[in-house]
Amino acid sequence: MSADTDTVPILKITNLVKSFGPIRALRGVDFELRRGEIHALAGENGAGKSTLMNVIDGILAPDSGEIFLDGEPVTIKSSAMAQRLGIGFVHQEIALCPDVTVAENIFMSVTNTSRTPLMDYRGIERKSSEILSQLGEIDPAALVRSLSISQQQLVEIAKALTLDCRLLILDEPTAALTEREAQILFGIMRHLAARGISIIYISHRMVEIFENCDRVTVFRDGQYITTMNVADTTPGAVVSAMVGRVIDNLYPPKQAEHQKSDEVILDVRNLCEVRRFRDVSFQLRKGEILGLAGLIGAGRSEIVKGICRLEGQVSGDVFLHGRKLDLKNYGQSIAEGLVYLSEDRKGDGLFLDMAIAANVSALDVAQVAAGGIISERRETEQAERLGRSLNLKCGHVGQPVSALSGGNQQKVAIAKMLSVSPKVVFLDEPTRGVDVGAKAEIHRIVRDLANRGVGVIVISSELPELIGVCDRVLVVREGQITGEVTGIGMTEDRIMYLASIGEEQRQAS
Ligand SMILES: Nc1ncnc2c1ncn2[C@@H]1O[C@H](COP(=O)(O)OP(=O)(O)OP(=O)(O)O)[C@@H](O)[C@H]1O
Ligand SMILES: [Mg+2]
Repeated sequence: MSADTDTVPILKITNLVKSFGPIRALRGVDFELRRGEIHALAGENGAGKSTLMNVIDGILAPDSGEIFLDGEPVTIKSSAMAQRLGIGFVHQEIALCPDVTVAENIFMSVTNTSRTPLMDYRGIERKSSEILSQLGEIDPAALVRSLSISQQQLVEIAKALTLDCRLLILDEPTAALTEREAQILFGIMRHLAARGISIIYISHRMVEIFENCDRVTVFRDGQYITTMNVADTTPGAVVSAMVGRVIDNLYPPKQAEHQKSDEVILDVRNLCEVRRFRDVSFQLRKGEILGLAGLIGAGRSEIVKGICRLEGQVSGDVFLHGRKLDLKNYGQSIAEGLVYLSEDRKGDGLFLDMAIAANVSALDVAQVAAGGIISERRETEQAERLGRSLNLKCGHVGQPVSALSGGNQQKVAIAKMLSVSPKVVFLDEPTRGVDVGAKAEIHRIVRDLANRGVGVIVISSELPELIGVCDRVLVVREGQITGEVTGIGMTEDRIMYLASIGEEQRQAS
């Protein structure tokens, strides 16, 4: 390699501008990517990260600014063209076709980049099944619909890796992955980088950036702020650059001793679901935030979905404020005030193409109706009021949810939940894909709810979050509650031990 190719960046962006109507998503940003480096792009929700990636991938045309690949100016007109130029892109949102197989999804995404008119299907098949087995033994013949969200995310990654790219963009790839899957991905990233492939890595998790990336660039409000060598900086410095202020409290204060109450809001007794969980019993007391910890697949989401009758054939009893409920479906659950915030924002959380206001009122449109028809004015008022309380950043509430950044979409999902004045909320991964500033806000909102007497149950795969937010944590393993931690007993080690010890015992016997 000559000195020249070493110093010319593989990708260089200068003064790039992109607006969506009045929203100035990128206000003249610069960016530079070296050959074989893993370069993190950090910034709060709405900072413009995904927008820039969509420009690089030819999905969005910039208003002005220049893109250079290997020193040559280029105009990337489409994703197909980006693919031909060797750019691979794993999008922030999963966009697979659910009703066809994993292999077919991968084939559909490949455009013919060879010089012959024929596609090398054999080659693609060999390569994709090799990659899928590396990533976590996913059957290429399985229907995408049958896969978990984390497996679907792995298929998205496999799709990009099947193409021989020289520049790989990963937009929050680990938001839906388990810790183990994420580690496999990091291994693959390092392997690719060692082969000279350049990677742009977007994540809100500082640990990931600091463990895996060479440099980090920070955007704030559509502007370029800085680029730093990871080895020469600290997570605190990156976060300050992102938010332009110091975030002192990621977690609000917990329930004080004198605030503890004996009043039981929710009492769950012997809840069972044939294949998924059994004998689940616990009480949720007034003012407390109760966490559910466990490995992915342990049954945490299934349990809370069972309580709300979202899925499964559930037996056992649920008492709300001492009264036994007889729920048959989720509609009845909402009417009683038991509301579930889905971990799958896109799948069953929100209607992305619909307006923010319509999403917020979706659980109970009667509230915003007048004389039997939906009143747009009331709907708008409700969305604006809840949006304000959550500090939602949007142009106006008539915008489609798809136009919002990930963190702001999550706030819409929370507003939707709050619109029905819930008695108990089940929050499944409430801050997934949410930036640090918004995360702190969501934690504050959750604590406010508990203080106001709403029962709060939180599921999170991020242990620091569970420990930081909850007053008490139940550990679920293989569909059963196997432990409880509170106070100073709430440590990552202790929770991990309770969440996984079952397997160790089995091996021992
Ligand atoms: N199609 C669109 N129409 C209108 N506005 C948009 C559109 N796409 C993005 N925006 C706006 O552009 C800004 C930048 O959004 P972008 O998705 O790039 O943020 P991000 O940095 O990727 O955030 P996150 O971390 O939440 O994913 C936001 O204000 C967003 O609302
Ligand atoms: Mg984004």
